[in-house]
Amino acid sequence: MEESNIQKFYKSCNVFITGGTGFMGKLLIEKLLRSTEVSSIYLLIREKKGKNAHSRIDELFDDVIFDRLKRECPKYKNRIEAISGDCSVSGLGLNITDRQKLMSDIHVVFHVAATVKFDENLKLAYSINVKGTKDVLDLTRQMKSLKSVIHVSTAFSNCHLPEIEEKFYDCPYAYEDIGQVLEKLNKNDIEQLTPRIIGPWPNTYTFTKALAESMIKETGSGLPIGIFRPAIVISTYKEPVEGWIDNLYGPTGVCAGTITGVLRVIKANVDSIADIVPADTCVAGLIASAYDVSEKECERTVDNIPIYNYVSSSENPITWDEFVHLNLIHGSKYPVINSIWALSLTVTSNIIVYNILRFLLHTLPALLFDTGAVLSGNKPRILQLYKKIHKFTEILVYFCFRSWKFSNKNTVNMWSKMNRADRELFPFSMTTVHWLLYFRRYIKGMRLYLLKDPDSTLDVAKKRDKR
Ligand SMILES: NC(=O)c1ccc[n+]([C@@H]2O[C@H](COP(=O)([O-])OP(=O)(O)OC[C@H]3O[C@@H](n4cnc5c(N)ncnc54)[C@H](OP(=O)(O)O)[C@@H]3O)[C@@H](O)[C@H]2O)c1
Repeated sequence: MEESNIQKFYKSCNVFITGGTGFMGKLLIEKLLRSTEVSSIYLLIREKKGKNAHSRIDELFDDVIFDRLKRECPKYKNRIEAISGDCSVSGLGLNITDRQKLMSDIHVVFHVAATVKFDENLKLAYSINVKGTKDVLDLTRQMKSLKSVIHVSTAFSNCHLPEIEEKFYDCPYAYEDIGQVLEKLNKNDIEQLTPRIIGPWPNTYTFTKALAESMIKETGSGLPIGIFRPAIVISTYKEPVEGWIDNLYGPTGVCAGTITGVLRVIKANVDSIADIVPADTCVAGLIASAYDVSEKECERTVDNIPIYNYVSSSENPITWDEFVHLNLIHGSKYPVINSIWALSLTVTSNIIVYNILRFLLHTLPALLFDTGAVLSGNKPRILQLYKKIHKFTEILVYFCFRSWKFSNKNTVNMWSKMNRADRELFPFSMTTVHWLLYFRRYIKGMRLYLLKDPDSTLDVAKKRDKR
């Protein structure tokens, strides 16, 4: 078989990754170590909960997704180096030795780090998502052997627009102006002014991701840079394990709520498209995009910065109705042992119907449960839980009522140029995803990895579910 061009590209490369401790970052590290011969991966890690970068790196590799790597490449740790830093700190908080090491050693950069909290305080979201990205760009300019930089954005960075092409969009403000305004305001003022500042964007996350793109448009010329924009990333499809996911963001929260019997009604437009993508195919696309950027022979001007929309809607669409239906099918095949109610989820776009059902199916049973708890001397908890769930589902409404028309020509072109070996090793085309099979793995994975329900409980759970 032909040689893989992507493998050839990464051979002996030193890669710098921010956000390596997160959901996508972990899969990126795993795939690079297992499927390429990168020389070293330098991971920028911040101190968290009293743990420094070095102790966090040890914990990182305890995750089950690294089991296969440990079997296939037992010496993988020799290729990992921790770099202490923080994207919210000026100059990424790097010490001079690490900075110089990165400047002299690095060939490929993946800037994955971000705060993905939709309602993050605007000042913090700006300092991580915009200022942090600017600092990464400034650093890459000083890298002597740089071949490629990928900034991970989101397909929803311009979600106030109905059609999203693989191009830059105008932002109403210059990124520096927003930074200066935020510098002068106190926390209270920022909270109050945020809706006015973010304007048509639904939250501070998408707004700051748009500002970061706009900053790249202003300052990215001369760099071998590309922007990778994934849609909603959920569990893995195939590798390194099927159905792996470690967070309850977005639709996964809805699925987990449904299969545990907690969530029984949601507000959504059933015909809207659910632009979801599997995490492993997304990471394969991300790895391929860095190679694609390095191959561009055109002048490195802003007009030539490639943007890759990584979405499912263009080639393999699925509606929210199908999403819920597939969840219910597999949720009933793989019930969880501690579900509190039988599996059922009503989806409605009618606000009045939603409010009535929400009262009958969530609030009323919660009141009854909590009354029982108080009478038996226990703490009432369920109503509080539903308050959190309703806040979470309200945040999702914006994305469940709309459909966007994304174009993904650059991503499709990238796939069409790949040889057979690359396609086998980095299968990122959404045409390769079979949703029915995917959802079986997604639900099984959620049951196992998120809800910590081992396969051994399945028979008992099924009997309980029938009753
Ligand atoms: N997940 C999705 O559905 C999705 C969809 C589209 C785009 N994206 C983009 O993909 C990227 C990764 O998302 P994810 O889902 O993997 O999120 P995640 O699990 O929350 O990971 C975020 C990563 O960023 C790091 N980070 C946050 N603030 C930092 C700081 N101040 N300094 C250094 N590192 C910091 C986190 O480090 P700690 O471990 O220290 O917190 C973590 O490693 C983001 O850029 C996001 O915008 C995600």
